Amino acid sequence: MLNIKEISKTFNVGTVNEKTALNGLSLHLEDGDFVTVIGGNGAGKSTMLNAVAGVWPVDEGRIEIDGINVTRLPEFKRARYLGRVFQDPMTGTAASMQIEENMALASRRGALRTLRPGITHKERTLFQEQLRILDLGLEDRLTSKVGLLSGGQRQALTLLMATLKKPKLLLLDEHTAALDPKTAAKVLDATDRIIAKDHLTAIMITHNMKDAIAHGNRLVMMYEGRIIYDVAGEEKKKLKVSDLLEKFEQASGGNFANDRMMLS
Ligand SMILES: Nc1ncnc2c1ncn2[C@@H]1O[C@H](COP(=O)(O)OP(=O)(O)OP(=O)(O)O)[C@@H](O)[C@H]1O
Ligand SMILES: [Mg+2]
Repeated sequence: MLNIKEISKTFNVGTVNEKTALNGLSLHLEDGDFVTVIGGNGAGKSTMLNAVAGVWPVDEGRIEIDGINVTRLPEFKRARYLGRVFQDPMTGTAASMQIEENMALASRRGALRTLRPGITHKERTLFQEQLRILDLGLEDRLTSKVGLLSGGQRQALTLLMATLKKPKLLLLDEHTAALDPKTAAKVLDATDRIIAKDHLTAIMITHNMKDAIAHGNRLVMMYEGRIIYDVAGEEKKKLKVSDLLEKFEQASGGNFANDRMMLS
């Protein structure tokens, strides 16, 4: 479903701020893979997702989504294949609009971008069914303004909207990092349910090693713009946080004491 072949990206070439954020990175995902991504600050995790989404072109390498070479496609043309959720609960939904209006916009993605002739009874029933998956009681609040929701409710809704039109690839960049632990756990549960229900292929960045182990069927660790550890299936299930710490220590030479991954 995703084939990243030896991509590289250097920012601010030729200046004192020159930074190679991706350094010959390769990653191959099968249909239905759910991979969690960990790595220290600045390892290139978000940059990898931005490369897949086409925020800017990569310097080298090739990116294929479901067999389609998207390496030279601009961001807006790749958007139809992708669902994305970011860290900030304020992005991804429109605060001044109702829950059902937000969902209508998301479900009509690619069709006419208009709310007229209003939301049909059939759509409403469908939205309620989908909201029920989140298990947050939002199915009874279809006409509430999204701005009135809590951060966790809003993030869960963003996730639902990002997957209403089954994307080929779901990209989650620390989408629970801004939430309190209890709410984060709820949104992660909803994430698991949505991914399982639609058999989605997903990449989830997290700085929480426990979450990285507990979710998905595969885990990769990034360091200096590359994948330095890749584990799947039974081997991943058996992982402990101490195993990941050891891997990280080997790669970074023990130089990671202040890392967010360690502080969580
Ligand atoms: N648009 C950009 N312009 C310049 N530098 C950038 C840009 N995007 C990322 N970088 C740099 O690339 C490196 C990798 O950044 P990235 O955001 O991918 O790290 P990350 O692994 O997501 O880290 P974090 O855990 O802090 O989110 C960093 O040094 C960052 O400053
Ligand atoms: Mg990041």
